[in-house]
Amino acid sequence: MQTCLKSCRRPLALAIFYSLLASSVLGQRLSNAQTDVLFPPAEMMTIGVYYYPEAWPPEQWERDIKNIKRFGFEYIHVGEFAWAFMEPEEGKYDFAWLDRVVDLAAKNGLKVILCTPTPTPPVWLVEKHPEVLVVDDYGRTMVHGTREHATWSSEVYRGYVAKIVTELGKRYGNNPNVWGWQLDNELSHYGKNYDYSNASQEKFRNWLKAKYKEIANLNRDWGTAFWSQRYQTFDQIRIPNEREYVAQFNPHSMLDFQRWFAENAADYLRFQTNLLRRQTKNQWITSNFMNSHREVYPTLSRGDLDVMTWTIYPVHGQMNQGPLGYRLGDADAMSFMHDYMRSLNSVQGIMELQPGQVNWGEVNPWPLPGAIRMWILRAFAGGARLVCTYRYRQPLYGAELYHKGIVETDGVTPSPGGLEYMQAIKDMQLLRTSRRPNSVEPKDYAARRSALLYHFDNRWDLDNHKQTTRWNTMGHILKYHTALKSLGGPVDVIDETSDFARYPFLVAPAYQLVDSQLSARWTKYAEDGGHLVLTLRTAQKDRRGHLWEGAWAQPIVDLIGARIPTYDVLPGSLTGKVDASGKTYDWGVWGESLEPQRGTNVLATYADHYYKGNAAATTRRLGKGSVTYVGVESLGGELEKDLLRGVFERAGVAARNLPSGFYVEWRDGFWIATNFTEQTLPAPVPTSAKVLIGTRDVPPAGVTVWIE
Ligand code: GAL
Repeated sequence: MQTCLKSCRRPLALAIFYSLLASSVLGQRLSNAQTDVLFPPAEMMTIGVYYYPEAWPPEQWERDIKNIKRFGFEYIHVGEFAWAFMEPEEGKYDFAWLDRVVDLAAKNGLKVILCTPTPTPPVWLVEKHPEVLVVDDYGRTMVHGTREHATWSSEVYRGYVAKIVTELGKRYGNNPNVWGWQLDNELSHYGKNYDYSNASQEKFRNWLKAKYKEIANLNRDWGTAFWSQRYQTFDQIRIPNEREYVAQFNPHSMLDFQRWFAENAADYLRFQTNLLRRQTKNQWITSNFMNSHREVYPTLSRGDLDVMTWTIYPVHGQMNQGPLGYRLGDADAMSFMHDYMRSLNSVQGIMELQPGQVNWGEVNPWPLPGAIRMWILRAFAGGARLVCTYRYRQPLYGAELYHKGIVETDGVTPSPGGLEYMQAIKDMQLLRTSRRPNSVEPKDYAARRSALLYHFDNRWDLDNHKQTTRWNTMGHILKYHTALKSLGGPVDVIDETSDFARYPFLVAPAYQLVDSQLSARWTKYAEDGGHLVLTLRTAQKDRRGHLWEGAWAQPIVDLIGARIPTYDVLPGSLTGKVDASGKTYDWGVWGESLEPQRGTNVLATYADHYYKGNAAATTRRLGKGSVTYVGVESLGGELEKDLLRGVFERAGVAARNLPSGFYVEWRDGFWIATNFTEQTLPAPVPTSAKVLIGTRDVPPAGVTVWIE
């Protein structure tokens, strides 16, 4: 056992020192040349596995690591929960065990992803500094024993984090066997969502002071001339917490809090990144973001991290799409995340993917045989450069002992999911041998390129005031993403920093918070030849979340060529009907009645209720492009698909008509079809094409890969 260095007697002073040190280094990203060294293009996508040496007898490590290699995995992921083993006593570090694991991995030809262990502070730390603990919305202070119970706002905690991260960096930052780093783990407070500790209260107030300068500005933007909310000083402000309010919260303060919370999380990752970068050479840094998590916003870390990764457990008891959805996973959400992460950074992948049953869902069924392999190849199609599975061994004790691993409880026999991983590894080996390095994206595929505009501000604000319990923000966004995927082109999930002109088609679903610059950009985009699709609730508010003193959705009235005088929402499970191109669709969540101006064509009309005959969707030409507005959400998503198909048709672009949950994508010269439906479906394989994996008819949970 190796121990080293001083103990920390003055955490506050050190925290300040380390913050200064961290903030003096700007976040930087890998160059293309570095990327090619760390992620050789010929490998396309690598597959690895989580391993917890601290949980197993050291005499089993070599056997386990040899087996991991024998099964075909290419790297191990270690250390994210091992702080108590790395620093068993304050300032006394023990890395001897980790040295051995890194050496064993290297000897067996495995790379290592090393993690900062910051989600799990050792007990001595929180015992000495209970002020670092997260406080939940009921005002309860969390205790030692699980994870993510320390606040990222605490300078005291950051001081300790800085020391362990620096020690790790010093020890492994030059180690050629350490391939890359993961910061923390699924940055979040899990079920607690937000942190209301004193450290966070203070940091939020400081953020508000910096943002508003004068309290009068905050009073104006938060609209505090309502229920006498008016504040006299910043010190009077607390984090908005529904549990502390008698009536509804102020939506503008909540939006600001959500922005601050996400920025604080990103700042915490940046803090760690900057510390590590001082020590590391030829290694990359990531953090594994949670799929569909709402409180932490991955886009904010794009400039700091070299690699974007995320976690997904597709099967954990929810029904998802279709009768087999509960065994195949949420195809829509998974598909969206691939497109979102890849658009943030082309070097991205899945850091955690389940190898079988999990333990934490309300019901934890088995994935359909084949599904695990399909998810891995779906990740390949989605552009992933790495897929890692959680976890190698099924634990024999602890909260996750019902969680399957790559091997069964005996520690050596591959589980059914483990066998699927091995199959997927073989699939990747086969694809590597057939790779054609200079393949060019097929023209008809590229012509269908579309972008979906996405911003957490809208997600937060829409969720904060739904106006109907039937409203589901992500559900609405996913309907459009799914519709775009069914047209068979590449889809990027972009934000406002992107150049819209790169995309022939741009869809902004329920983009509620808008300013005049954005509506001007949208206008120019269409005038220059882009095909813009805006949907209900778009531009109803300014960036603060205030309604416009003017027409409803004022900034887009001229752009869409229609006024939006009213909207309706239906209670219970009531439905209304909408007609479009001879078909009738059900709706019930949200329906705007549109008043088209001259030159605007009606695409859909309401078929019942007192506004029967009113327009529900419109389109108009604008300059060289077009603007389509869809004011209603259909229940099944078919209307959205048909309307988007119409946009493509009017633009003269031939689209596919893929069933939802059936994906056909192109990457690195390969066409990949994956089937998340309950039916066997034909892949669009030309007769002259060569099928490398699977068959021309793709069964449920099946994959077909071909080259043309
Ligand atoms: C993830 C988490 C892992 C593990 C896993 C179990 O969300 O990052 O540490 O708990 O769930 O499925």
